[in-house]
Amino acid sequence: MIHVAADRRVFEFHGKNSFYTMCVDTEGRLLQIGHGGLAGRSPVCTSGYVYTEWLGNLMEVPAYGDLSQDEVVLKAEFSSVSDPVRDLRLRYVSHDTVTDAQPGFAPKHGQPVLITTPRQTLRIRLRDIEFDFFVTACYRWTPEHDIMERWLELENKTDQPVRIEQCFSGVLPVGHGQFELTALDGFWATESHLRREKLAFGTKILESRTINTSALHNPFFMVNRVSRAGYEHGDVWFGQLAYSGNWRLAFEARHDLFLRVFGGYNPYDFELILPPGGTHSTPAFIHGFSTEGWSGASRRLHAFQRERVLPRSPESAPQRPVLYNSWEATSFGVTEQNQLELARKAAAIGVELFVLDDGWFGNRTNERSSLGDWFVRKSAFPNGLKLLIDEVHGLGMQFGLWVEPEMVNPDSDLYRAHPDWVLHFPGRPRTEQRSQLILDFGRPEVVDYIWSILDRLLSEYPIDYFKWDMNRAASEPGSVEGKAVWMKHVAGVYGLMDRLRAKYPALSIESCSSGGARVDAGVLYRTEEVWTSDNTDALCRLAIQEGFNYAYCPRVMSCWVTHEKNDQTKRPATLALRFNVATRGTLGIGSSLNHLSDAELADYARYIAFYKTIRPLVQDGTCYRLLELEEHNSSVWQFVGEGGREAVLSIVIADHRTAQVMPPAKMKGLIADRLYKGTDDLGRVLYTATGAELMSCGVPVYAQQDHPCMLAIGYSRTIHFTAT
Ligand code: DGJ
Repeated sequence: MIHVAADRRVFEFHGKNSFYTMCVDTEGRLLQIGHGGLAGRSPVCTSGYVYTEWLGNLMEVPAYGDLSQDEVVLKAEFSSVSDPVRDLRLRYVSHDTVTDAQPGFAPKHGQPVLITTPRQTLRIRLRDIEFDFFVTACYRWTPEHDIMERWLELENKTDQPVRIEQCFSGVLPVGHGQFELTALDGFWATESHLRREKLAFGTKILESRTINTSALHNPFFMVNRVSRAGYEHGDVWFGQLAYSGNWRLAFEARHDLFLRVFGGYNPYDFELILPPGGTHSTPAFIHGFSTEGWSGASRRLHAFQRERVLPRSPESAPQRPVLYNSWEATSFGVTEQNQLELARKAAAIGVELFVLDDGWFGNRTNERSSLGDWFVRKSAFPNGLKLLIDEVHGLGMQFGLWVEPEMVNPDSDLYRAHPDWVLHFPGRPRTEQRSQLILDFGRPEVVDYIWSILDRLLSEYPIDYFKWDMNRAASEPGSVEGKAVWMKHVAGVYGLMDRLRAKYPALSIESCSSGGARVDAGVLYRTEEVWTSDNTDALCRLAIQEGFNYAYCPRVMSCWVTHEKNDQTKRPATLALRFNVATRGTLGIGSSLNHLSDAELADYARYIAFYKTIRPLVQDGTCYRLLELEEHNSSVWQFVGEGGREAVLSIVIADHRTAQVMPPAKMKGLIADRLYKGTDDLGRVLYTATGAELMSCGVPVYAQQDHPCMLAIGYSRTIHFTAT
């Protein structure tokens, strides 16, 4: 609900558990009044209070100008008769409420999301005190999840260009106190690791400077007062950015320990020139409030993504298919013959989507050549891809293909023909990473060319799925678009994905960037799933997935079971552990099926069949992290379906000290007076208890037959509970 007391110009959002309030003071400044738990609060709009004083810098859209010395949302430079003016003072002009507003970089593919009921967006229009430069602060409200998407719309109505030097999408007022930050950071093969730290006086920055989302930090955060929130209790402010380019989250704790979170474009190497008449909309800064701790914050984000972010074309299946990907099995050595063999074995164990990874094009037999030459490698696939795709379809599976559209190897026909099509500064060195350079998406002809390649592939072959990879960070970002290329690159990628989805509505897209370096709400608006990490070692994955689950829903988390001895860490893991970890998201298989015995293949088939029975709960249920890795060295998650008649308990003991006592996992959301049976993948009934017992006494983390002192590292179980 949005309350507006127009006479006093007070605006207040009410959600299930939270409020957000702003007002316009007597000078016309838009001020932040507060944001927090509702707890019996009635709308300020009814209190009769009139705001007359300016609360220091707590402006809704703090701009460089006025008295600003702290961080600002906007920094603009106006041309003037004498020196340029770098002073922006925004004052209230008008407001309205609409139901069709869209942030910048919103998807244009036209496909629906799960819940399409209209949401209200409050728009407050501000203008500089002198120049015809307008800023509209937009707030789209999803009250059932206490989530706001906010963005800015800029409009230059002067007759001179306006240069924007800094532009966040907004600033979230958190409040006074000692806060701690929960963030996700990492690197290749060790993405989305959970980190908690106290926010000291000053500014803490999380950011990307790589042109993609980055694996170093993810554009996500949770903050809470130190010791006042935990896994399932307390007030938590959280947020994420719907943007896959250079982003920044700045946590500014002022001298009075008032914490604000700025989110949006990274000011690093940023410039936006708005010509006379020019407009620009920033990407959405999504934020919300949980009264149920970190896990409650995650549940709000998960539901929001499932219902309001992910595309659900009418052609797409309600659940994500079980995938097979050949990368770890055959690497660059893909041939028609070995893929056919893998496809037959994959279909026999229950796989539903077969993905041919890198190596199928140009002269691509290693990473040093052919990116850009998207023509089938005839020496490996003499029949083009047709024979393989027909066979895959004939086996009842979908067909997926790996592409890396933003890249080119210098050893490629594309680069030889167009050496200027890459990011570079003329006459300066071009630094390669993984032997590749980044195409300049500031050039429309480059984006058009890539469109023609992808369009040709899809019109020539019945491809159901693209794995869209991106394997390097930007350097030497020289472009025909100057500094605007940081933004143009993202717009180019999103534009291509949107166009593909619009023309081929049955196509699914996986976002991959050397593992999980392009995971954010912006790419989720146009993809079905993301590749979580190249690290498929089950115990490493456990931690990576736990962090991932803080910010993103299980449905988008692609998880593979791979070889017994892991490719990255070279250590072994039992099949049970590999499956029990991988079934916490969308299951995939990456093992060398040609090297497995019939008995092993039968075990794979059994686990896959079991996964299909729990899949609706995992992919679309509500996820509780009942025991967290961080606290217990073990992780217990529960997925529960609507109404509570079915649930899944996923238990993984990462490490165990002799005689360590693990608390029972107290389940959530079940029906108290119903009797539940808990069965495992072998169909054994391990637990029989009422909902009340499962929720109040909990489930012992070890099954009765497994004595705790005997437990090995990596003990794991997945149990499917159904009400009888
Ligand atoms: C990086 C990805 O993360 C891998 O899964 C694989 O697709 C390789 N690229 C292929 O080059």
